[in-house]
Amino acid sequence: MALVLTAGGAGAAVRPDIWPVPARALAADPVLEARIDALLARMTLEEKVGQTIMADVAEVTPDDLARWPLGALFAGGNSSPGGTGLVPRDRWLAAADAYHAASLAGSGIPVIWGTDAVHGHNRLIGATVFPHNIALGAAGDPDLVRRVGRAIAAEVAATGLDWSFGPTLAVARDARWGRAYESFGSDPALVARLAGAAVEGLQGPVEPHVPGRDFLKDGRVIATAKHFIGDGGTTKGIDRGDTQLPEVALRDIHGAGYPPALTAGVQTVMASFSSWNGAALHGHHGLLTRVLKQRMGFDGILLGDWDGHAALPGCTPGSCPAAMNAGLDMFMAATDWRGLFQDTVRRVQTGDIPAARLEDAVRRILRVKIRYGLFEKPAPSLRAAGLPEPGAAAHRALAREAVRRSLVLLKNAGDLLPLPAGLRVGVTGPGADDIGMQSGGWTLDWQGGTGRNHLFPGATSIFGGIAQAVARAGGSAELAPDGRFATRPDVVIAVFGEPPYAEMAGDRPDLDFGRHDQGRSRAMLDALKAQGLPVVSVFLSGRPLFVGPELAASDAFVLAWLPGSEGAGVADMLFRAADGTVAHPFTGRLPMAWPEAGDTVRIPE
Ligand code: BGC
Ligand code: BGC
Repeated sequence: MALVLTAGGAGAAVRPDIWPVPARALAADPVLEARIDALLARMTLEEKVGQTIMADVAEVTPDDLARWPLGALFAGGNSSPGGTGLVPRDRWLAAADAYHAASLAGSGIPVIWGTDAVHGHNRLIGATVFPHNIALGAAGDPDLVRRVGRAIAAEVAATGLDWSFGPTLAVARDARWGRAYESFGSDPALVARLAGAAVEGLQGPVEPHVPGRDFLKDGRVIATAKHFIGDGGTTKGIDRGDTQLPEVALRDIHGAGYPPALTAGVQTVMASFSSWNGAALHGHHGLLTRVLKQRMGFDGILLGDWDGHAALPGCTPGSCPAAMNAGLDMFMAATDWRGLFQDTVRRVQTGDIPAARLEDAVRRILRVKIRYGLFEKPAPSLRAAGLPEPGAAAHRALAREAVRRSLVLLKNAGDLLPLPAGLRVGVTGPGADDIGMQSGGWTLDWQGGTGRNHLFPGATSIFGGIAQAVARAGGSAELAPDGRFATRPDVVIAVFGEPPYAEMAGDRPDLDFGRHDQGRSRAMLDALKAQGLPVVSVFLSGRPLFVGPELAASDAFVLAWLPGSEGAGVADMLFRAADGTVAHPFTGRLPMAWPEAGDTVRIPE
């Protein structure tokens, strides 16, 4: 035993037999496997290695694919076709067609292209931006999650892409983690309940008997369950940190989403940047190969995260036999895909990577490509031709519904909410008219927050939604970011919260909102209260934070999470209909415990 531990690194020993065996999504298919055999038989070593490398579109031209037969492309959080600028749908389609044609002319095996459409096709101007996963966890409805996934898939496919790096199945146990909002919540049962639906929404249902079955047909994309495993359990919520738990707890807490995702047929899984008991997941043969592939029967692509292989001992961005030997099938080669390509070829020649391991990786990649129908699909723009325009009205209506169902009412003194719509409403606060802020990280750019309202055509800010709702009922709305209203309002809606952030930059040492905010929101609320105005707070946040003073200074307090592009969904919840009826009662529930003091992290058991 001691020997095994030393050889595999700390914590590397696993007991695969204690892990579940999920129902197989797709039966083994001898015809498909024979097709893979035939393809493999005519591929050169370079062509095989090429399949295992995914490079960033900002770093690869279609011409490169003639010489470098890459298997896949990705658009990183700040990447677009041609570089880093934001480009419209037709530019994505033209790029997708060019890469597709180049790969056909090169290796003859079409390339696939993925992106982080984690709450909509969030690098595309004009896309529908859905609430982040934490909000969908608050709504807690698998059917809603399925419909959102389907709409996201349609918007991604409409730009010619094949793949989204979602859903995130992290079970966020510590809100200090800057990716808590990418998680459905801290309860493994909740994540398990939504995981399969999220996969089905993106890929389509696998069951052959479902009428109108459309598994991976046009308008659907390949999904990725990420990040395997334990990403939400790192000590102190440190991103890319270490999850220290016994194997049973790792399985029961952080593994909860994987069996339902596998049963729903998820075709790719992304390895986590994090470690388990000191051993980095990217090199964890026990968890990647023995548990996920052999025990749980995962037969698709195990994808690395953004240069995640480079953190393993002895590895660099351009060299890492250890990751492939541990079970990684495809590298997300962020910064040195050429070096990694050449090094991997050499490593197979020297035997550092067994030829059979490479063969298995390529088999998995081809299996997913064949299941996706890639060899039969026409050019990406032709596949996309019949799909709705991103930002279509039906998608926006769905996002607005998701917003309504995710809002959580934390305080409502004197039943102030919902307000009669015919009032004079004052609207204030830094989040009142800022679509970038209400959308959070992974929106237009990686960390979010740079997108001004004009970069969200077709979207509605929270103020915009309030103004429409109030106008419909004969009231009026005045926006005064500094709280100085020209006309004294009957009630004030104050919109404030966290500025956008994403992985790493979003980690916090504690959960005290007032401290990060330097007391600004509280001072704003106090000033409104001093004028004797009733105050409704709308709090924008990717996670539970201690807001005791802000709660105390508000008459009503609504958690809006990160609602995305459809701010009107917030107004839907704040106002009565013109006839006084309540169309949408609050039904959202906390998907993570709400802290009682700034430095407390309470985890529901
Ligand atoms: C994140 C992944 C993401 C990838 C590509 C990484 O930093 O951890 O979730 O899919 O970048 O943008
Ligand atoms: C992210 C990428 C992002 C990049 C920016 C990475 O860690 O995962 O998506 O584009 O950083 O430098």
